[in-house]
Amino acid sequence: MKIKTTLTTLCCAVLACTAFSAANAATIGVSMPTQSLQRWNQDGHNLKAQLEAAGHKVELLYAGDNDIPTQVSQIENMISGDVDVLVVAPIDGGALTTALQGAIDKAIPVVSYDRLIMNSKAISYYATFDNYKVGQIQGNFIVDQLKLKDDATTPKNIELFTGSIDDNNVNFFFGGAMDILQPYLDSGKLVCKSGQTKKEQVATLNWSTEEAQKRMENLISSVGYGPDGVKLDVVLSSNDSVANGVTNALTASGYNADNFPLLTGQDCDKPSVKNIKRGLQTMSVFKDTRVLADQVVKMVNAIVDNKEVPVNDTKTYNNGTGVIPSYLCSPIVVTKDNLKEVLIDSGYYTEKEVK
Ligand code: BGC
Repeated sequence: MKIKTTLTTLCCAVLACTAFSAANAATIGVSMPTQSLQRWNQDGHNLKAQLEAAGHKVELLYAGDNDIPTQVSQIENMISGDVDVLVVAPIDGGALTTALQGAIDKAIPVVSYDRLIMNSKAISYYATFDNYKVGQIQGNFIVDQLKLKDDATTPKNIELFTGSIDDNNVNFFFGGAMDILQPYLDSGKLVCKSGQTKKEQVATLNWSTEEAQKRMENLISSVGYGPDGVKLDVVLSSNDSVANGVTNALTASGYNADNFPLLTGQDCDKPSVKNIKRGLQTMSVFKDTRVLADQVVKMVNAIVDNKEVPVNDTKTYNNGTGVIPSYLCSPIVVTKDNLKEVLIDSGYYTEKEVK
C-alpha cells in the first residue's frame, strides 16, 4: 500500500492534480441516481477520476434512469462486496433505510452526496452545495431583475416550478426562493394567476422535463398566458431540466427571445447554457461538479486515514436521526454576461459543446 501511495502522489504532482492522496488506499462504492441527466454523468465521472487519482479503487454504479429498486440492490451488493466507504446520491432520500442497515452492521461509513439520505443512522457525512443559497440566489435574481423593491413597480405575473418532492434538496431550493418571494406575493407586487404556490402543487416528479412541459402547457391554456394573451413576466424553476420543459412549452406557444419571460434554473446543463445564449432562459445556478468531487475526495481520504473529516456546517441538515455534519460548497450565478468566463474559460465546457 505504501509503494502505491508514493507512486500516486508522484503522479499527482506531475499532473498538477488537485486531489489529495490518502495514506490508505481503499475501495469506494459510488451510487448515482440516473444517467439520463447530464449533471449526474459529470458528477460520477469527476468523482471516479479524482478518487482514483487519490489512489482508491472505485465501483461506480448508476441506478438506470432513477430506478429505486435498482439503486437499493446496487447498494446492497456493494455492501456485501465489502466496499470500505460508500458515497451515495439517492433517488428517493427516504427509500434507503433498509438497504443501508447492512452498512451499519458492517461499520461502513456512508457519505451522502448532493442529496441527503433521510431516516438512516448509517449516514456519517454529507457533501453538497449550499442548497438554501441556491434558492435565495434565484429569488434575489427575480427581485433585482423585476425591480420589485422599487415603489413604482407594477405587479408582475409569476408561475412557480420546483423539483421532485422525494428529494430533500427541494425543501431548501424552493424554501430559499420563497423566503425571498413570498413577501412580494403577499404585497401583490407578484401575482400567481394559477394560484399554485404550495410546494406540493408546483413539484415535478423526478425533475422530469416532460412533466414540467405538460404543467406549463396546462398553465398556458388555463390562465391564458401567451405573447398575445395574459402577460407572463417570470417563471421560477428550481433547476435546468425543469426549466427546459418550461421553455419547450413557451416556445411552442409562440414565445421567442424578444418576449421571453424571466426564467431561472440550476446546474448549467448544456441545453440550458445554449438557451441562455439564445435568450430562452435567463440564468442558471452553477454548481461545479469538480469542486464537489474534490471535497468528497478530501472527506473520503480523511475517513480512511482516520483523520478529522473536513466539514463547514453542523446545524442545517437533520436527516431524521440527527444533524449530519456537512460540507457545503458555494454556488455561482450564471447569465449571458459571465457565461464565457465561468463555464468556458474555467475549462468546464468547450465553446463547441455549448454552441
Ligand atoms: C440536485 C440538482 C439537480 C436535481 C435533479 C437535485 O438534487 O441538487 O442539482 O438538478 O437534483 O437531478
